[in-house]
Amino acid sequence: ETGTGIDLLVHNIGTLVTMAGKAAARKGAEMSELSMVSNGAVAISEGKIVAVGPEDKVRAQLGNAAIAEQFDAGGRLVTPGLVDPHTHLVHGGSREHELALKLKGSTYLEILAQGGGILCTVRATRQATEEELYAKARRSLDIMLLHGVTTVEAKSGYGLTLQDELKQLRVTRSLNESHPVDMVSTFMGAHMVPEEYKGRSDEFVELLIRLMLPEVKRLNLAEFCDVFCEHGVFTVEQSERILVAAKALGFGLKIHADEIEPMGGAELAGRIGCVSAEHLLAASDEGLEAMERAGVIAVCLPATSFNLRLTRHARARKMIEFGLPVALSTDYNPGSSPTESIQLVMTLACLNLGMTPEEVMTAVTINAAYAIGRGDSIGSLEVGKLGDLVIFEANNLAYLPYHFGINHVNAVIKRGKVVVS
Ligand code: NIG
Ligand code: FE
Repeated sequence: ETGTGIDLLVHNIGTLVTMAGKAAARKGAEMSELSMVSNGAVAISEGKIVAVGPEDKVRAQLGNAAIAEQFDAGGRLVTPGLVDPHTHLVHGGSREHELALKLKGSTYLEILAQGGGILCTVRATRQATEEELYAKARRSLDIMLLHGVTTVEAKSGYGLTLQDELKQLRVTRSLNESHPVDMVSTFMGAHMVPEEYKGRSDEFVELLIRLMLPEVKRLNLAEFCDVFCEHGVFTVEQSERILVAAKALGFGLKIHADEIEPMGGAELAGRIGCVSAEHLLAASDEGLEAMERAGVIAVCLPATSFNLRLTRHARARKMIEFGLPVALSTDYNPGSSPTESIQLVMTLACLNLGMTPEEVMTAVTINAAYAIGRGDSIGSLEVGKLGDLVIFEANNLAYLPYHFGINHVNAVIKRGKVVVS
């Protein structure tokens, strides 16, 4: 018996994907081993799961404990709340004018080198007030929640001055406090060298290390530090300096690595022990092996390669073969991936990366949770974890990526509260 009153009992679950298993990111073949229950139920008390499994067993376990509210899942598919572990949620403006440039054949790095791309969003973000940034980000966060996402990582990196970076990070903190979705904050001052430091990138790196990182730490506004390691942005050597300094201050490390050119970013992620490395389209075999040895999670972003019209995709099959844990994310941002839909990402991961629906589910739940340091509290439905659940208008897992481009969510439960229905 649980001994406490039950706030919410979710019952009549046709297929319950619990993702229960070892307390670590799932690697290689483990990514296909989902724990599934037919005719399941989940009991939640004070925001946390107190019983989960076959409905008859859960009810027996609850005995005659008081149940405040029951939610009938109607025989549907229920999974852990989805986790989006890589977004650039907080920013000003939008960049639909880049679509015409793309259609004429301009590449992402060409648009950036001409002062557009990220730099365009930096101008819009600097101009925006904190309230404007909050209102825009909140609308996107609402969309994510409607699509089944209950935890979101958000990066700064469109301010590139101390004040404008702090402005973005404070918006993430306010969202965490005022919106049902839980936020994980990442400082990404090393997203781009700002125009005023053009040709003086080492000086900007010094500014990041000496001023910005310590101040973000002092104000406790971010848990992770991320760097865009790419030709024309930050070199491997600069990325290493920034990330090593961040590590010394106690930040967890992330890196946008080998997105477009093979630079040795994956190797760096392994060498300095990043929690995750993202993109990885051009990552070498040696880089992937270095990541595997160091336990770095590979975060693949198939909506980005789709939207950039790249013919190459992240080698998810190779990563899984190498025994790497793979996670998936929208990379939601106004340039390379203007979509909040993790469900679209799930389809693209199947069709363009060759992942199976089981691997995809692992990648958007437990592995995504570990990629943002939350594997102990979310990502699976197990006793003691948060009561974050999605009820899908589907009765099996393959239906989600198969029937694409629409929202399959029937209801969302966050910390034991029905927040979408
Ligand atoms: O993850 N690659 C760098 N940063 C983002 C894109 C940001 C932008 O284009 O505004 C990304 O793709
Ligand atoms: Fe990104």
